Amino acid sequence: MNQIGIPNLDKKLEASLIADMVKVEELMRSHIQGDYPLVVETSRHLVEAGGKRLRPLLTLIAAQFGDPTNYDIIKAAVCCELTHLATLYHDDVMDDAVLRRGVISANKKWNNAVAILTGDYLFSKVSDMLADIGPDAVKLQAKTFERLVIGQIKETQGKSEGLSQIDHYMKVVADKTGSLIATSARFGALLSGAKPEVVEVLTKFGEKIGVAFQVADDLLDVASNETASGKTPGTDLKEGIPTLVTLYVIAANAPADKDLIAKLRNPISDQDLPNVITKLRTHNAVKEVQGYLAQVAKEANDLLVDLPEGAAKEGLKNLTYALVNRST
Ligand code: IPE
Ligand code: IPE
Ligand code: MG
Ligand code: MG
Ligand code: MG
Repeated sequence: MNQIGIPNLDKKLEASLIADMVKVEELMRSHIQGDYPLVVETSRHLVEAGGKRLRPLLTLIAAQFGDPTNYDIIKAAVCCELTHLATLYHDDVMDDAVLRRGVISANKKWNNAVAILTGDYLFSKVSDMLADIGPDAVKLQAKTFERLVIGQIKETQGKSEGLSQIDHYMKVVADKTGSLIATSARFGALLSGAKPEVVEVLTKFGEKIGVAFQVADDLLDVASNETASGKTPGTDLKEGIPTLVTLYVIAANAPADKDLIAKLRNPISDQDLPNVITKLRTHNAVKEVQGYLAQVAKEANDLLVDLPEGAAKEGLKNLTYALVNRST
């Protein structure tokens, strides 16, 4: 693996992506400035804690299908990362999370109100920068954010009448996570002036790997350790948020799982959590989720078939496999 996180990446492309990611980091940091020191401090808290920077990276790779030198691409990459970051501040309030990017979450370091307002502050910074790119960029981010919020609301509300739990879950995942990852790729392709059919392919690809990314994240809630993921395992279980792992356990309805299934239908208590995690880690549902991820990864990479051959296309394919097999 290399600095960018894509295995077997072409050296020239790697150097160019690293150079552009430096510009993304510089712009992101210089953009989070304001008159009120506390909000600058609270927003920098998670910017500086790190994170994988998947969304800006995807914007930059997608831009390789056109002219990648347009500076608006860097701005759009920053906007995608800051939109994502804002949703993390809000998500940690909703999920009552303690740890984020390996550091204490903003809701726990300060409080829920500060975390919510920090997310709002970051959204205002995103709008400000998007306006410099132009109205189409503002519109694209607005539509994307609308989908993301609807995904989060659907997750909170639970399934509607007539929809299976798994179909509901798939919609939630596509909306809350697929939407922004799709748009991250779309921005890069659009702003590089890539051909319209390439823009569409990269958007669909982004959506697909976005879904896989969230399913892999759900798996990490059961299977990861805190040091690798920078988050507390079992957060979804404690909040009673269905994930593909728990939904598969429930759907299989094995007699031996009777007690486990009864527990999974509600938020898991602190007392039950270690035992439930141990049972889930060795459950066949984990293998089934991995099988599903392998299938989605293949579907994502199949979408790329008509794109011009080259380092960027190879990079995207390897990124897909890295995302579904990740441990962070
Ligand atoms: C976490 O996203 C939220 C999900 C959509 C799963 P990331 O896993 O990309 O978080 P960072 O940016 O690396 O912290
Ligand atoms: C969050 O999903 C998706 C967002 C749109 C923020 P999760 O709640 O699974 O994300 P993590 O695991 O806390 O990063
Ligand atoms: Mg969460
Ligand atoms: Mg959540
Ligand atoms: Mg999660």
